[in-house]
Amino acid sequence: MALVTSSEMFAKALKSDYAVGAFNVNNMEIIQGIVEAAQQENAPLILQVSAGARKYAKPAYLTKLVEAAILDTGVDICLHLDHGEDFDICKKCVDDGFTSVMIDGSKHPFEENIRITKEVVEYAHAHGVVVEAELGKLAGVEDAVNVSARDATFTVPEEAAEFVQKTGVDSLAVAIGTSHGAYKFKGDPYLDFDRLREINKLIPDTPLVLHGASTVLPEFVAKCNEYGGDIPGAQGVPEEMIREAAKYGVCKVNIDTDLRLAMTAEIRKYMVEHPADFDPRKYLGPARDAIKGMVAHKIKNVLGASNKR
Ligand code: G3H
Ligand code: 13P
Ligand code: ZN
Repeated sequence: MALVTSSEMFAKALKSDYAVGAFNVNNMEIIQGIVEAAQQENAPLILQVSAGARKYAKPAYLTKLVEAAILDTGVDICLHLDHGEDFDICKKCVDDGFTSVMIDGSKHPFEENIRITKEVVEYAHAHGVVVEAELGKLAGVEDAVNVSARDATFTVPEEAAEFVQKTGVDSLAVAIGTSHGAYKFKGDPYLDFDRLREINKLIPDTPLVLHGASTVLPEFVAKCNEYGGDIPGAQGVPEEMIREAAKYGVCKVNIDTDLRLAMTAEIRKYMVEHPADFDPRKYLGPARDAIKGMVAHKIKNVLGASNKR
């Protein structure tokens, strides 16, 4: 039991059309809920930490909590930096013991994205750490509704092949229509599977990553709204689309919003039903259980990753 890279996880996933869940973590209860679900399902696991999470919890707390989770459960975990914006934060995480980092150069022009990604790859690989990069821009809810908008933002397959060849990156996040947050589509959900298949055909050995992959599970949105929330018209990526993506090279599926919704729904319900309580354990406990249940469902029924450890 240890902190591990994602190399072996992705090599196995690529061969068998399932995906590894990469869950964002911000505190102890979130980490415990996720890791207990992976333990129960005997599944490979990536925990990822954003710059915002590092700022909120302080880096040492998150790293030590993840180490504690490994000790407690015996689950091997890949500890990953999510959306590292420059070389410095990637270097810090490598030096802090992360086993994987993302350099997100997607906002830069192609050549600049290649340059900074290469710099991170050289440093990370020299320290036994793997690297994820991103090419293309994740659409906002109002973006990419027509073909020319899609072509301007979605990943270009030939560029993906050139990018991977020139940078030596270990995995690549692609833009095919997903977006971050709880409002992913205005009308019917749409992902560009033709584009994904083409990317996968050109770089079949490169594990692909789907950001913005929460389903925005209706039961949690409904529960939030029932107990005083105001989250109208939230919509995510349907579960069958995630399953489909795993057939075309998607090995890593990023989930944060579904964790936030599961946790918030339980806390809202508890607060409304127990207005006199003020012991945080009373509402954080059920919130942790809700996360465990939701993550176990995803691993088993959506990602197909049960018993793949
Ligand atoms: O991709 C974004 C993740 O959901 C992390 O969000 O930057 O608010 O921690 P955050
Ligand atoms: P969601 O907002 O769909 O959960 O995506 C999270 C993500 O991509 C983290 O990098
Ligand atoms: Zn993301």
